[in-house]
Amino acid sequence: MLWYGGDYNPEQWPREVWAEDIALMQRAGVTVATVGVFAWAKLEPADGAFDFAWLDDVIDGLHEAGIGVDLATATASPPPWLTAAHPDVLAVEASGRRWSIGSRAHHNPGSPTFRYYADRLVGKLAERYAHHPALVAWHVGNEFGNEVPRDYGAESAAAFRTWLRARYGTLERLNDAWGTAFWSQQYGSFEEVQPARDTPTFPNPAQALDYERFGSDALIAAYRAEAAILRAANPAIPITTNFMGPFKPADYWKWAQEVDFVSDDCYPDPLDPEGHIYGAMRRDLLRSLAGGKPWLLMEQSTSAVNWRPINGAKRPGQMRALSYQAIARGADGIMFFQWRQAARGAEKFHSAMLPSAGTGSRIWREVTQLGHELGALEGIAGTPVEPAQVAILFDWESWWAVEQKAMPARTDYLAAVTEWYSALHELGVLVDFARPTDDLSGYRAVLAVSTTVLSDDAMHNLDRYVREGGHLVATYLTGVLDPAAGLMSGGPLGSLTETFGIEIDEVSPRPPVDQPEIRARLGLSVEVVGEVAGPVGVWAEIVRTTGASAVARYGPGDLEGSPAITRHPHGRGIGWYVSAELERPGCADLLRIVAAEAGVSSTNAPPGVEIVRRGDLVFAINHRITPVRLSLPGRDALTGAATNVVELAPFDVAVLHPSSSDEPGADDDRARSADLLQASTA
Ligand code: GAL
Repeated sequence: MLWYGGDYNPEQWPREVWAEDIALMQRAGVTVATVGVFAWAKLEPADGAFDFAWLDDVIDGLHEAGIGVDLATATASPPPWLTAAHPDVLAVEASGRRWSIGSRAHHNPGSPTFRYYADRLVGKLAERYAHHPALVAWHVGNEFGNEVPRDYGAESAAAFRTWLRARYGTLERLNDAWGTAFWSQQYGSFEEVQPARDTPTFPNPAQALDYERFGSDALIAAYRAEAAILRAANPAIPITTNFMGPFKPADYWKWAQEVDFVSDDCYPDPLDPEGHIYGAMRRDLLRSLAGGKPWLLMEQSTSAVNWRPINGAKRPGQMRALSYQAIARGADGIMFFQWRQAARGAEKFHSAMLPSAGTGSRIWREVTQLGHELGALEGIAGTPVEPAQVAILFDWESWWAVEQKAMPARTDYLAAVTEWYSALHELGVLVDFARPTDDLSGYRAVLAVSTTVLSDDAMHNLDRYVREGGHLVATYLTGVLDPAAGLMSGGPLGSLTETFGIEIDEVSPRPPVDQPEIRARLGLSVEVVGEVAGPVGVWAEIVRTTGASAVARYGPGDLEGSPAITRHPHGRGIGWYVSAELERPGCADLLRIVAAEAGVSSTNAPPGVEIVRRGDLVFAINHRITPVRLSLPGRDALTGAATNVVELAPFDVAVLHPSSSDEPGADDDRARSADLLQASTA
């Protein structure tokens, strides 16, 4: 079954509306409703006074209508009686200020008092509903860490000390790892250690990095506490919580190991011409977090949201296009926030499946159309997406470290990764994300974008990947720090200097007015010739080659002639190093060359168009505001019509059973690679 539905908040509506809700859900093809996310106050209006009667009715009603229930643990926002009696539950900011009530998610999920009450509620829900036939999954909390990513209060201080004891064992080792000889920071006992609260000037970088690790672990621990209760009640029911794509406060590689399936909330800005790239990157990250297994789009909007400065409506077809993008890239369901548009509260201007404009609206027509289409496509559930040939490393520790204060220049890790991802997306190359220590041998090329923190294991893994035939492209700031946020022993890149055949003498960022250009024509072999050109951003490094060739050099300016991009055959593979912060065209230039040399295939889809294969189906999606014609012989999976040329109106989608003679990926890889390069040089 494909999931189709959304957050359902009947507690915000009079009972009379519920029957209409269910009838309209059936009309829209809804298969699952997420119930109870913010219902704590209705389920437990006073301490220990539980009221499940209304929820019984809701769940039974959905079940009778054949709609499954993704039941939330309702712990995403504690009710006022709880915080009034126990203010210690309210989260504390780095400045020491406590949050107040009147919104949502103002609590510290790690507070022992909060855990007592939350776990008690979860226990009651588990006891009552764990064997209900409507239950298809448990939905723990909601977007852990979104409102309050970190807590800095006394209880978190105590938990941090416990975490540090487990990590370091002794105070000597902590003092050593944190370099506390600097600025008189040496600790005489664990009790003296504090959370990474506000400090007058630069905080200890190792402490700050450990607080990110601890804070991420604390969020996971809160999830784990509730999941354990649910699992004990009925191990057959899968448990998840909704992730938020590349969300800095939580290391989702770790968290993905804990859930039964990963799910994501994703809200591309409809007004952003690159919203589809934003979406694709998150779909690919989720598929990677899921280890290639299906994942779920737990929340998206049918049209506008309510939380941007300008909340644009989706254009006709845009919601459907973005939904198919998720299905094509591995989602086994499309869910929305929310079923019925709110009449009250802070989200009244947020779109929904059933808008306040009612069933005469375009949104409703699109919602019912998609529901019926997905009903017809349910055979795709569980099928794998075609394997990606390229991976980008995504590393939360590097993200935390590289954006710390007191670095050589301000960097934006996600923006840098996005730039390289976008260049690959525009080239029609499907991407996985991976960790630096993962087995990378299945990928023809791997990108390490400012993977700043590298362990010895990670460096050995990356070196082995290249020696065994991989094409590794690393950019500025890779391997600058060790896992304790200290300078890498032996200098930037650590042992990877051998892999790349270079040494980095100095980092040399510069203001935008002083940015050099680079230009190089690369002739690597008869088939592989290309050009890398364009301005570079803030980042530059002074690189000395010790075996690599400088394939692109900096143009006029103080770095003139210094290597900007180097290439080093190492074992059976190639280590590329990019010391310059390339802009998108420069990234694309280089990637065309790397892809051609590594034999990476491309769909050659025109800009703004995606073609992705999943299971037996090919999805062609036009995210542009202009029509496009594609030569894609096959049979339309929705209409059954045979096609040779697919004409896609703006935001239209084709789902095809491809003709066997022209299945994407069936072409000779080398020929595809040559195409890729020609497209670049034409
Ligand atoms: C999500 C949240 C939902 C809803 C939605 C609005 O972050 O999980 O409850 O608030 O945003 O876009």
